[in-house]
Amino acid sequence: MDRKRDRIYLSPPHLGGEEILYVKEAFDTNWVAPLGPHVEAFEKECAKVADVKSALALSSGTAAMLLSARLVGVKPGDVFFCSSLTFIASLAPLAQMGASPVFIDSEPESWNMSPRALARAFEDADRAGKTPAAVILVNLYGQPCDMDELLPLCASRGVPVIEDAAESLGSLYKGRPTGSFGRFGFFSFNGNKIITTSGGGMLLSDDKEAIDKARFWATQARDKAPWYEHTELGYNFRMSNVVAGIGRAQIKLLDDRVARRRAVFERYARALADLPGVSFMPEPSYMRSSRWLTTLTINPEQSRGVTRMSIIDALAAENIEARPVWKPMHLQPIFEGAKYYEHGGDVSRELFGNGLCLPSGSSLSEDEQNLVIETVKKQFGA
Ligand SMILES: Cc1ncc(COP(=O)(O)O)c(C=O)c1O
Repeated sequence: MDRKRDRIYLSPPHLGGEEILYVKEAFDTNWVAPLGPHVEAFEKECAKVADVKSALALSSGTAAMLLSARLVGVKPGDVFFCSSLTFIASLAPLAQMGASPVFIDSEPESWNMSPRALARAFEDADRAGKTPAAVILVNLYGQPCDMDELLPLCASRGVPVIEDAAESLGSLYKGRPTGSFGRFGFFSFNGNKIITTSGGGMLLSDDKEAIDKARFWATQARDKAPWYEHTELGYNFRMSNVVAGIGRAQIKLLDDRVARRRAVFERYARALADLPGVSFMPEPSYMRSSRWLTTLTINPEQSRGVTRMSIIDALAAENIEARPVWKPMHLQPIFEGAKYYEHGGDVSRELFGNGLCLPSGSSLSEDEQNLVIETVKKQFGA
């Protein structure tokens, strides 16, 4: 393999071949305008995968988050709770609406929101009489949150949950698909996700009326009238029929893509888990992660000078893309001073400090995986 020429990406798109047939169908039938039969069919297919009653195809996961926030009634001056260890799109729409985040730490068992820290945040909010407008649960790197511990804390106070399942399409919590646990949930079909439409998102809910409202907002909030009549302001957020065609071919491959990503994880774990200080992201027995990205931490006290950055740099020298774990939101300059509830020790800060993501694409060849493994091992002198 020519190491300089064949860059190994973190999570590149993996096309199956049929995408072009769906796109061609859209062209042949002149359904290249926004919306059309692929959009409707793709919505039904995603609703089935997530086991929800209704789905709305959108231009991005971020658009789905914004519409969820509007549906639960987030307004300026509100407070909301959100996992700190995530990508900024989990919360940027709410902050842009004038609401303030309170960040919740991760638990070491799943790397997702700590039930213990969430309980403390709620107790303080109860005492202050300031109920959050929403709780945003994020299924990180494909791993479901511990729903049975987190959801009752929200339900007992009537606080709506928005489930950010952007990274967890194809994952299960106690046998139930992610995306179905909040009042609203959503997937992302960004180019780096487990399946892609080249860019897009899917809003999910059992509340069909709410999804219809989101559909109205997502198409410029046009009232029923022969002319353009508006009593509300909306957005241009719908997915196009061409893009939905890509998604229809991709979603048929979901089981295969999950199996491949899980196999990549297993292979890395088998080859690297015994290196000093190396720990892979755990998977509690009652969850089935899609293993969207293989992530691991390097404990600097045991790793004989190897750090997550020295590994990332060594991989970069071989033209291999690897990344640090998400930088937690409570450490981001834009959210300086925001309230943060630790699990007991700042778990998300430590995961960021020591964690990295390895190339995890479902199209990664064995040779490419071997090169990643060899490069990491070399760092340890193994
Ligand atoms: C956790 C998380 N939330 C939200 C998003 C936003 O999705 P999109 O890129 O489709 O807007 C992403 C990915 O991009 C994500 O990883």
